[in-house]
Amino acid sequence: MNKLSTTWQCPSNIAIVKYWGKKGFQLPANPSVSFTLSECTTTTTLRAYEHPGLRKPEAQVYLDGEYHEAFSQRVTGYLQELSANNRWLKEFDFEIETSNNFPHGAGIASSASAYGALALCLTTLEWENNPPENRSVEAFYRRASFLARIGSGSASRSVYGGWTLWGKTTALPHSDDRFAVQISETAVHPVFRNLRDSIILVSDETKKVSSSAGHNLMNGHPYASLRYRRAADNTQRLLEILQTGDWDAFSSLCEAEALDLHGLMMSSQPPYILLKPASLEWIERIRQAILNEHLPLAFTLDAGPNIHLIYPADASKQVSQWLNNQTISQPDQKIIHDRLGSGPVKKL
Ligand code: PMV
Repeated sequence: MNKLSTTWQCPSNIAIVKYWGKKGFQLPANPSVSFTLSECTTTTTLRAYEHPGLRKPEAQVYLDGEYHEAFSQRVTGYLQELSANNRWLKEFDFEIETSNNFPHGAGIASSASAYGALALCLTTLEWENNPPENRSVEAFYRRASFLARIGSGSASRSVYGGWTLWGKTTALPHSDDRFAVQISETAVHPVFRNLRDSIILVSDETKKVSSSAGHNLMNGHPYASLRYRRAADNTQRLLEILQTGDWDAFSSLCEAEALDLHGLMMSSQPPYILLKPASLEWIERIRQAILNEHLPLAFTLDAGPNIHLIYPADASKQVSQWLNNQTISQPDQKIIHDRLGSGPVKKL
């Protein structure tokens, strides 16, 4: 029996313009823009065992060394879906060992890093087994992003470092709905190349409504078409802001996108709320710090209650003092300090 094996470490990412709503087969209803994190990562080893003949692939997933039934079923479904158009997958069964270095339910998109890492492993095996004609580095990551997208839309953006865009927009000629592309560093002002993201953990409860249920609730949502237009405009606007380095405009756009996302949840049918009272308290504190202390802060939220506090690296000292003052009366407040990172790493 032929055994192939590879290991990738892939970071999570934080979206500034949010992907919320799908069209067609796992395609985004609007473009989204994120930056890839550095510290919050998933490490995945994929072992492929060849078997005679062709049949639907099966996967056994081990999370932190323990067999995980629900993930095994989910990943088996994902691989079987891919195998319809990727015959080579039918020659193998898979064993997957995976671990996250950040706590579950921390408001960090683990599906982004998990499917990012898995798709990078799959692309590595695919290229060893069935080398394509175009073997450029760019083609490799585009393929990994394509495969990651089918598992989780936001994962398509995690296979690159720095700033990434997923979804077709006239503002970026090579953009595509099927895979994410990197935003060139030359199109990013230095203030946005070295960002910090301190994730304020308001709650570690498991989400009441999953992201996929949330995306589905955008079908027939009363504000859907307006939202998709606004996200497309915000994408264009963010690309301009990234180039000019306008921090205040960035901060306003971050806030508008985060509150749009949660507003859409509140106006879904049925409506739901993922924010907690403490999320609102932190939002108010951050707004006050921007207005009264002129700190260069921005905040965003994923589909959860935790606050991503974003600021330029050279404001770290000031912001860390401010955070210390905020948490004097809450010594148990958990904060994960992350930053914009340079992307996934092949370990083996
Ligand atoms: O990739 P999914 O299906 O888990 O959706 C992610 C949606 C948000 O995290 C809320 C926004 C985004 O663009 O990452």
